[in-house]
Amino acid sequence: MNPSRKRILTGDRTTGKLHLGHYVGSLKTRVELQHEYDSFILLADVQALTTHFENPSLIHNSIYDVAIDYLSVGLDPEIVTIFQQSQIKAIAELTVFYSMLVSVNTLRHNPTIKTEAQNYGYNDMTYGFLGYPVSQTADITFCNADLVPVGDDQLPHIELCRKIVRRFNDLYGTHITEPEAKLSPCPRLPGLDGNQKMGKSLGNAIYLADDAESVNKKVRSAVTDTNRTSVKIPGNPDICVVNQYHKIFNPEEHGNICSMCKNASIGCVACKKLLAEKLNQMMEPFREKRAYYEQHKNEVREIVNAGSKKANQIGDEHVAQLKESMNIIL
Ligand code: TRP
Repeated sequence: MNPSRKRILTGDRTTGKLHLGHYVGSLKTRVELQHEYDSFILLADVQALTTHFENPSLIHNSIYDVAIDYLSVGLDPEIVTIFQQSQIKAIAELTVFYSMLVSVNTLRHNPTIKTEAQNYGYNDMTYGFLGYPVSQTADITFCNADLVPVGDDQLPHIELCRKIVRRFNDLYGTHITEPEAKLSPCPRLPGLDGNQKMGKSLGNAIYLADDAESVNKKVRSAVTDTNRTSVKIPGNPDICVVNQYHKIFNPEEHGNICSMCKNASIGCVACKKLLAEKLNQMMEPFREKRAYYEQHKNEVREIVNAGSKKANQIGDEHVAQLKESMNIIL
């Protein structure tokens, strides 16, 4: 660890394995940034409880699934700290202290909370769910992170985090770092069915853990330009999901594919085949690493335990300082 390097903190709820949307939206950036920043990657199992408290075994299994997803795409456990949220005492403590500085109304008006509550069908949400942005503030600040790579849905949470940090620093004379969001360079990846969001509940996702045959099958079933009922009719790439995928995963050939679609010199079947090949080519190295870690789960466990130990050392030291500034001492 190089103390002059800026620190990144980000992570995922452990509520299921990750898909290509996660990859282009955040994992890819994390892998690119891991050499430049001191990186902390959080397996958010406590936050997972806010929506999945009735299914703890899903959360438990997902800790391994997500950790292996991370390792398979190339996060290097020698240089990044992958850790488990529930193991970090500092996060729990800070959550309590921060909760004094946020009003219930502020949380209620958080647009991401509102959308998620609606999606989950909560008409009377729990205190834990309403308050998860406070706990997320603790995730980010326990190690004084500078930068938080996230999707745009997380921006309200980062804004709240910055507010809490400013208030805390003002009140207690501390120097908690006010973090900045770092937005993904890639637009949101739509689902294969044309739905704006790729998601497990929607059944329209390609998982990082999918084998080549599943990828072929899923891509074959993707929705294209529905007006293009025959190969002879020119297509409209602007309204085609497969085309959007080409743009992201096959940028070299994208222009050419668009022209061929528009002049009907390529059909949807062939176009999908090209995409599936491209995706499988990208995913092949992931699969090799995955196969190794699937067979060495103990190693995965050791990586996460070592990461949690390191995060705890940093967190304990930080919280001790903060408590002293708050006069929570005897
Ligand atoms: N809320 C984030 C998500 O749903 C996951 C998360 C938990 C997170 N703690 C975090 C992201 C801290 C960034 C920083 O994707």
